[in-house]
Amino acid sequence: MSFLKEIERRRTFGIISHPDAGKTTLTEKLLLFGGAIQEAGAVKSNKIKKGATSDFMEIERQRGISVATSVLAFEYDGIKINILDTPGHKDFAEDTFRTLTAVDSVIVVIDVAKGVEEQTEKLVEVCRMRNIPMIVFINKLDREGKDAFDLLDEVEQKLGLTVTPMSFPIGMGYDFKGIYNLWEKNVNLFSGDSRKNIEETIEISDLASQELTKLVGEKPAETLRDDIELVEGIYPEFDKDEYLNGHLQPVFFGSALNNFGVRELLDCFVEIAPKPRPKQSEERLVKPDETKFTGFVFKIHANMDPNHRNRLAFVKIVSGTFERNKPYLHVRHNKKVKFSSPNAFFAEKKEIVDISYPGDIVGLQDTGTFKIGDTLTEGEVLNYKGIPSFSPEHFRYINNADPLKAKQLHKGIDQLMDEGVAQLFTLDLNGRKVIGTVGALQYEVIQYRLEHEYGAKCTYENLNVHKACWVEPTDKNNEEFKEFKRVKQRFLAKDKQNQLVFLADSMFTLQMTQQKYPSIKFHLTSEYN
Ligand code: G4P
Repeated sequence: MSFLKEIERRRTFGIISHPDAGKTTLTEKLLLFGGAIQEAGAVKSNKIKKGATSDFMEIERQRGISVATSVLAFEYDGIKINILDTPGHKDFAEDTFRTLTAVDSVIVVIDVAKGVEEQTEKLVEVCRMRNIPMIVFINKLDREGKDAFDLLDEVEQKLGLTVTPMSFPIGMGYDFKGIYNLWEKNVNLFSGDSRKNIEETIEISDLASQELTKLVGEKPAETLRDDIELVEGIYPEFDKDEYLNGHLQPVFFGSALNNFGVRELLDCFVEIAPKPRPKQSEERLVKPDETKFTGFVFKIHANMDPNHRNRLAFVKIVSGTFERNKPYLHVRHNKKVKFSSPNAFFAEKKEIVDISYPGDIVGLQDTGTFKIGDTLTEGEVLNYKGIPSFSPEHFRYINNADPLKAKQLHKGIDQLMDEGVAQLFTLDLNGRKVIGTVGALQYEVIQYRLEHEYGAKCTYENLNVHKACWVEPTDKNNEEFKEFKRVKQRFLAKDKQNQLVFLADSMFTLQMTQQKYPSIKFHLTSEYN
């Protein structure tokens, strides 16, 4: 197959949702359609159950599984589909934000009863800012839930989307009869048989026909006719370009557990979802069909075996082909590197691969040379943008609890930060190290991993910080900036890139500081240019 055809047939996406909305179940059903797995239950849930915060086994289990499910690839209808896993747990949200830099589109899963939840709001906001094309799947229609129109309203209001239903439910919960597919103009009847993989659909060219009444009963048929009239009256018609530009979001209804409405979603997805998209680097826009390889690291995963402290760096291929044993430029190190056993991912397995194409993800064995955001090329100096650090929510001093292991601690912290587990800040005043995280769970993960992977022990000490703000002075030499640095010295630190950060102890302090020093800009993300 030609290089261009290989690009054309790739779809790389992520599924985002609040925990428990049905992401794992949907992923599994998609893999079943692709024939990539034979039975349900093959995709392990990659989530930390509630209340397991102190259960280290659970953390380890989660890490183990998440290697296996980091990328799930399968073929459907001649299309190569790569699903990138996005942890739903809020403490791992940053991992998800980074993964979103490597997807070309997303599917948002929403629970029909719970509606739009907190994590969904946050993740969709990131996708919206980047104009990532989104399809919405409203799940669990076999259960009693919110009215479909109310839900569509909620999705528009809370998520700031413009929706267009592609399917519509006939009844719900106990009275759930099936869905009407506006895209294909047919009815799909729900039998509630979860073992059924292929559903039967019945063409309904005219909703006014008696056939519909016979199929679903008089009242539901009447309601559906009214509903569809309303849908057609109030929602914009589907427009592929609008969807691709991130301005219009098609919505499907179904039940992942019952494998209902999933095929419709998948068929529409392969038809409309974008093939690998061009990506902006600091230097220029890079197109997938350029012949020279470029790619970037969006995730690093530590090996669970402490005897082999290798890590796996996940690289998204942006342009050209990635070939085994070919030397590539590690841009940050300005060094050529070669990989003898790059991994590609298929369903839940990984295998060594000779050649990979734009849209694909390769896993590269890494002994500590990579960090998140690193770019690889065939020689051109390029730096991919779009992997900013967000201000952490939690801050603690990290102390060495075993003076004989200071070197190990230092190395461990360094590598864990490169993996993106948390952020390190070094105080200007006294050189003390502060770890900032998105969730409290990360502190336990860090402590556990430092001990088990690096043989180092640490303790934490609380620190009252509300937000870390990256500081951008208009003029480094002006009096205002000098005064700011003098007055706020106790609250200034450097991040790992040696950028100046102001650790504000409250929103109020931040506002006052901003007022007092108007020529300085305070940013809540590290990449503000
Ligand atoms: P997540 O990855 O988004 O966190 O959700 P997951 O797929 O694990 O689904 C969360 C729960 O919701 C699971 O039940 C799952 O079986 C259920 N579920 C998913 N889709 C549907 C659906 O269409 N209808 C109904 N009724 N339930 C659905 P659980 O009891 O928490 O887990 P399990 O013991 O079944 O694994």
